[in-house]
Amino acid sequence: MKYCQIINNSKYKQAIRIISENEKGRKFCIHDYGHFIDVARICYILCLENNINVQKDVIYAAALLHDIGRSIKGGDHAQNGVLLAFDILNECGYDKGDVELITEVIRSHGHVSDDIKTFGDALARADKYSRRCYLCEAYDECYWSEDIKNKYPVY
Ligand SMILES: [Fe+2]
Ligand SMILES: [Fe+2]
Repeated sequence: MKYCQIINNSKYKQAIRIISENEKGRKFCIHDYGHFIDVARICYILCLENNINVQKDVIYAAALLHDIGRSIKGGDHAQNGVLLAFDILNECGYDKGDVELITEVIRSHGHVSDDIKTFGDALARADKYSRRCYLCEAYDECYWSEDIKNKYPVY
């Protein structure tokens, strides 16, 4: 399982440390390891349910890395994460095709489509489904629109 190497990668660990430092005391959703694993598991389910044929190693890599750009200040975190993810994936032995696919879904993970037809659709949707809005104390202050907020654990 190549994705296990990501968890132990020094660049990855450093980025996670920076994000956690930046988000200390944040009342809205945080972007920690728990979030990444929730996204990985939900994305895996969505791929199975929608007959999207992607390896588990690729799904987990994309989920673990999708918010890594939040460790870089300024600009769009999805775009910012692409270069860092590229380095980490290469260090962890992912092949060229997988690196291209994973970095592309990281770049576009903010765009949620109505249907789940591609791996990118599944990751973007899993990112939304992962949030426990139904338990959130900052529910009323959150910028998410009512139709996106999770009223119950869909997955
Ligand atoms: Fe994100
Ligand atoms: Fe996310």
